[in-house]
Amino acid sequence: MTGLAIKRLHPSIGAEVNGVDLSRPIDAPTRDALNQALGEHLALVFHDQSLTPAQYVEAASVFGPPMRQHYSQHNMADHPDIGLVWHRNGQQPAERWHTDHTNRERPPAATVLYGVEIPSSGGGTSVANMRAAYAALPEDEQARLATLSTVNMLDGHTDTREDDRRKYDVPIVHPMVRTHPVHGSRAVYFHVQKAKQIEGMSPDASLQYMNDLLERMIRPEIVYHHVWRKGDVLVIDDRATMHRAHGDYDRSQSRVLWRVIAEGDRPTLV
Ligand SMILES: [Fe+2]
Repeated sequence: MTGLAIKRLHPSIGAEVNGVDLSRPIDAPTRDALNQALGEHLALVFHDQSLTPAQYVEAASVFGPPMRQHYSQHNMADHPDIGLVWHRNGQQPAERWHTDHTNRERPPAATVLYGVEIPSSGGGTSVANMRAAYAALPEDEQARLATLSTVNMLDGHTDTREDDRRKYDVPIVHPMVRTHPVHGSRAVYFHVQKAKQIEGMSPDASLQYMNDLLERMIRPEIVYHHVWRKGDVLVIDDRATMHRAHGDYDRSQSRVLWRVIAEGDRPTLV
C-alpha cells in the first residue's frame, strides 16, 4: 500500500482519497483500508481518474461483487454491470432521498459513480449520513424504529422491462434500522418509493411516516454535497446513507455518470 491519504470533506460525512489510481490493480491492504474508510466516512471521492469500462468495474469490485442493475435498458451493452445514469430517453434525476436497490435480498454495500460527462454547473449528488440521523432521533423513536421492517419491491417506473419485473419485483423485507457490518453502528434504512409498506401499518400510514422521518432527519449538518468534476469517482455507502441527484442544470448539456452497485450483506439489526 503506497501513498494512500484520506482527507475529511465535511464534519459529518465524506472524505477525499488521494494516492490511488483506480485504473491499476488494488492490493489487499489498500482494499482493506478503502473499505474501512468507506465504513467510517460513508462517501469517498477520488478525483482525476481515467478508466475504461473494464477498469471501472474492476475498481468498483473493491467494495463488493458487482450486482446486475434492474433497469437493464440503461445497462452498457458490452459491460452490463455498468448502468448509465443520464437524463435522456425517459430517465429523470432521482431527486428524492433514497438508498439503492432495497428490493434485493442482499442490497448493495456501495453505489459507485464515475463522472464521464458533467454539466458546467448544477447536477450535483447529495449524500446524507443516516447513522447520524439515527443518533439524533429521540430515544423512544430509536427504540420504535428498531422494531419496524419495510416490504420492498420495484418503484413503479413505467418503462421497467417485463424480464426485470419478473426477476426483481418480488417482496423483500428489511429492517428499518440496520447495523453496519464493518463499523458496527446503527443507521436508518429505507427507500421511500420501494418500501410498499411498513409491516403492520397501512401503505398510506407507512408513506406518511417515512416522509415525516425524512423531513425531520435530513438536515444540512449531515449532508455532503458533491459537485462533480469529470473523472471523479464517488463511492456511497448504501448501508448507512441516503442520496439524491440534483436536476438543477441546463438540460441541453449532457450529464453522464457510470454506475456500478457492489453487493453487500443482508441487512440485520444486532
Ligand atoms: Fe440512487
